Amino acid sequence: MKPIIVSGIKPSGKLHLGNYLGMVKKSIELQSSGKYDCHYFIADYHALTQKYKPEEKAADIFELAVDLLALGIDPERSVFFMQSDILEHANLAWLFDCITTAGQLQGMIEFKEKVQEGQPASVGLLNYPVLMAADILAYKAAFVPVGEDQRQHLELTRDVARTFNKRFGETFLEPKGIFVEGLRIKSLDIPEKKMSKSLPKGCLYLTDSAEAMKKKVRSAVTDSGTEVVYDPVNKPALANLILIYSEMTGRTANDIVAEHKDSGYAKFKDAMAVAVSSSLIEFREKRADIAAHPKKVRDVVNIGAEKARIIAAKTLKEVKEKMGLI
Ligand code: TYM
Repeated sequence: MKPIIVSGIKPSGKLHLGNYLGMVKKSIELQSSGKYDCHYFIADYHALTQKYKPEEKAADIFELAVDLLALGIDPERSVFFMQSDILEHANLAWLFDCITTAGQLQGMIEFKEKVQEGQPASVGLLNYPVLMAADILAYKAAFVPVGEDQRQHLELTRDVARTFNKRFGETFLEPKGIFVEGLRIKSLDIPEKKMSKSLPKGCLYLTDSAEAMKKKVRSAVTDSGTEVVYDPVNKPALANLILIYSEMTGRTANDIVAEHKDSGYAKFKDAMAVAVSSSLIEFREKRADIAAHPKKVRDVVNIGAEKARIIAAKTLKEVKEKMGLI
């Protein structure tokens, strides 16, 4: 049996380059390696922990499914599904709630940050990492490809697995994160913060037109000086643009710097925006094609749900029995 991989992504606004470079790109590489049994899902229940407009949510979910399929999540090679279609996730989350303390959740960085940003401190937001543990443990995952910002959540999943195994007998692996080392894409306008759906002005979206990208990159914060150098400590805003440029085109930072050393920021920024936008041409074409067939998209996700449900139901049954139910 191949090691199991699980990862999810929230439909809470458009997919940005942080999501793509921090998680989606790696997930597709892992799928293509053929070495793992991959499970990728749209975390629609998790998206409800943020303020949202119900009339926009269905479109967010559909658009994200189209994005992921166009980028290369392949339902023939990975189980691709919607979290809320698998009722076992929420059911397992309740069982894991009973072995998790409120203190563990109240200390989570993301919970504190979101509340500071003005999100309601709902029980759902507090409980977010337990549902995430359920998402992962439902498939007895060995590995979870996620961005650096998810380290703490993954640590909680490992805690839940360890606590469960200790109290009720060996059941779960303690899943390990697969991180793209050091890759934390920053907001274009606040380079101290990560690129995030909650800071839309600082996001480059995969579906942005070439013109929109150019405009956003032109107005991105840059550091003092004029020389294009890669210096994440002293020139973090510029380093962020070079990193995105490099990751999207496959060119090394050194190569990019050598070409643009004396270009000045304005010329460099235009070249960067054009290169990033051009790297997405094929994606845009595939995306338009997939989006034109919404029923096919729903069918793909339904088939994925059927496969996922079988595994999650088996785990739920085992967990309930071990916890003394039935
Ligand atoms: P979400 O939708 O917020 O983020 C999806 C993925 O994108 C990564 N990411 C970034 N990586 C680098 N730089 C950035 N600026 C950046 N912004 C986002 C995130 O680390 C994430 O991997 N909690 C998850 C969703 C989830 C999940 C799961 C993941 C729910 N259940 C089970 C794995 C396993 C999240 O943050 O989604």
